[in-house]
Amino acid sequence: MNKKVIFFEVEGGTDKGPDGYRPDTMPMVEALKQRGQDAEVLFFDNAKKQQIFDYVKEHGAAYVSRINPGNLQHEEEYFAMLRELCQVGVMGMPHPDAMISYGSKDVLSKLIATNLVPDDTFAYYTIEAFKAQFPTSLALTERVLKQNRGSTGEGIWRVKLVEPLAEGMTEVPLDAQIKCTEAKDNHVEYWSLGDFMTFCEPYITGLNGMLIDMRFLPRITEGEVRLLMLRNHPVHVVHKKPANTEDAFSATLFSGAQYRYDSPEDWQELVENFLSQLPQVTSLLGGYDLPLIWTADFMLDTDEAGADCYILGEMNCSCVGFTSELTLAHQVAEEILACLQEQSTVVSPS
Ligand SMILES: Nc1ncnc2c1ncn2[C@@H]1O[C@H](COP(=O)(O)OP(=O)(O)O)[C@@H](O)[C@H]1O
Ligand SMILES: [Mg+2]
Repeated sequence: MNKKVIFFEVEGGTDKGPDGYRPDTMPMVEALKQRGQDAEVLFFDNAKKQQIFDYVKEHGAAYVSRINPGNLQHEEEYFAMLRELCQVGVMGMPHPDAMISYGSKDVLSKLIATNLVPDDTFAYYTIEAFKAQFPTSLALTERVLKQNRGSTGEGIWRVKLVEPLAEGMTEVPLDAQIKCTEAKDNHVEYWSLGDFMTFCEPYITGLNGMLIDMRFLPRITEGEVRLLMLRNHPVHVVHKKPANTEDAFSATLFSGAQYRYDSPEDWQELVENFLSQLPQVTSLLGGYDLPLIWTADFMLDTDEAGADCYILGEMNCSCVGFTSELTLAHQVAEEILACLQEQSTVVSPS
């Protein structure tokens, strides 16, 4: 029996087109059907979890998860169902734990051993760790503090000292004045360091809470470069240039950034380096198969030899859209078929 490729979506949310699906979902379903592979979309509904599980276990060769966790009320239950589907042999695109691992902001601290992340990048999972390190980090350079949730620049703060630190000091005093710019809209707030750190505590204590502390990369003004990947192939590039106003560092559309669409060949150096790091990336992130559709965002920096280098800002693999480039649906379909083919070569008895 020819089993189906199941696309999971969730009803509602701002990411849907007039047909109720994400605009890039049906093109993938159609592209698979054109190639003789049956496919369908199911809406995850926690009340029908068992029914959905039984159906996909019986009829699904693979699932493709197309849910923005922000639109999902029962995230834990959804992930648990995906995990069980993977256990009973349905191919996970991606595995739920890969989704969590690649999508969390602490991907940065996990990848310190690669050349994609500066050494002085920290993840704080407790308020104590935050208090112990952040004043020292800020004494080194201007910083960016990132909360784990969202993808809209909310809770992503550029933090700068108002007055330079006195000579010889290695830790910023808690009463020092700081200038904080939020990536959501590039608005500026002035705080004392101590008060701002208290304000940030809920980012750490909330569900999946953490704060990432990373050096501010001034060349963000030249743009953030998003690589859209199909497993290990870069297929599309979005160049996002922040608004040309003082303090602006955000690459979100809402904040006024300008988008340009490029091809991976235009970013050869970045692509080559990233691909060379991929084996190490997959192993550091838990050894899962690479996600089907995912993105990696980079910022330009200058290395010790004065050459350009590219620093990772974040990755996403739970709800990557390609509505601006719908022809990619055919490449995605080919990639899905290749995954199924590889799996059947591995598991079928000789
Ligand atoms: N280390 C950094 N240096 C300079 N700008 C940064 C840095 N990290 C993030 N940014 C800017 O902040 C924006 C939001 O940060 P990001 O980590 O992408 O979070 P989000 O999930 O909200 O997109 C980025 O698109 C980029 O413009
Ligand atoms: Mg981002």
